[in-house]
Amino acid sequence: MGLLDGKVAIVTGAGRGIGREEALVLASEGAKVIVNDVGGSLGGEGGDKSPAQEVVDTIVAAGGEAAVNADDISTWAGGKNVIDQAVDTFGSMDILVNNAGILRDKMCFNMEESDWDDVIRVHLKGHFATAQHASVYWRNRAKAGEEVSGRIINTSSESGLFGSAGQSNYSAAKGGIVSLTWTLARELQRYGITVNAIAPRARTRMTETIFTEMAKTDDGFDKFDPANIANLIGFLASDEAADVSGQVFVVFGGDVWAMSAFQPVGEVHRDGPWTPSELAAAKGELFKGISSGVPKFSFF
Ligand SMILES: NC(=O)c1ccc[n+]([C@@H]2O[C@H](COP(=O)([O-])OP(=O)(O)OC[C@H]3O[C@@H](n4cnc5c(N)ncnc54)[C@H](O)[C@@H]3O)[C@@H](O)[C@H]2O)c1
Repeated sequence: MGLLDGKVAIVTGAGRGIGREEALVLASEGAKVIVNDVGGSLGGEGGDKSPAQEVVDTIVAAGGEAAVNADDISTWAGGKNVIDQAVDTFGSMDILVNNAGILRDKMCFNMEESDWDDVIRVHLKGHFATAQHASVYWRNRAKAGEEVSGRIINTSSESGLFGSAGQSNYSAAKGGIVSLTWTLARELQRYGITVNAIAPRARTRMTETIFTEMAKTDDGFDKFDPANIANLIGFLASDEAADVSGQVFVVFGGDVWAMSAFQPVGEVHRDGPWTPSELAAAKGELFKGISSGVPKFSFF
């Protein structure tokens, strides 16, 4: 008995890294999995079906069911195809894990137009294109009188929560994914669909130069193993998380943080408009006890 017996899941970008581990955990909990991946380079060039095929082979060898999908999820047609393939192959679609991503890190003054467009397209449109078609599918089922239990799990980043120098394209996309998560959670609530997001930290080709040094703790627990992230996805995808929606989790190793939405940290009020000079004079009150400078990158 698994937490996800009888469910059908899609994981985008599941040929490698975090998505691969998510596909394996969902399958080990009983879900049938569409393993989507274009198999491109870190920057998004080229394509290769073999990483996705390797994940499908691993799932099947362990007694599970899975199929490859090589659509580019950053296109409207790709987003539709992957949903259609899940329904055609396995009879339904219950869990959508939006994970696919690319990286083109540059300081803003060195950024090319294509670096901006491609990163925003793959992450932000790549999340919406699949979610839009999934929402049509689930809403039609709900309108036909079926009880729907849909799950969307998006992938943001601490870069999107706090900003990160050298990643204006990526952090804008990842911040957009947080707002998209809140909006979809509100829109789809009435149809029995939850929408959450994670901001993971793991050692993959995206981060291997940063996390290699920090790979192992003394007791042998590898905090940066991407498999650690996947277990949170297994929970959020399950019926046990039916009451969890519109939430953002920072996760790595054995640590999971539920993050709050934006909250005011300082305030000034009056019964009429402020002039610019009056606001300048009220600056001390607005930032009482807190810094008015660039916020720190992380919360710890
Ligand atoms: N690794 C981390 O610490 C970390 C931190 C924060 C956020 N993330 C996010 O986690 C997700 C997974 O990243 P990862 O570290 O596993 O990277 P990765 O490069 O190992 O995996 C990403 C996968 O997405 C696939 N992909 C890219 N564009 C695609 C497209 N248009 N259609 C289908 N597949 C596509 C790639 O082929 C690749 O296999 C990304 O969204 C990333 O931004 C990762």
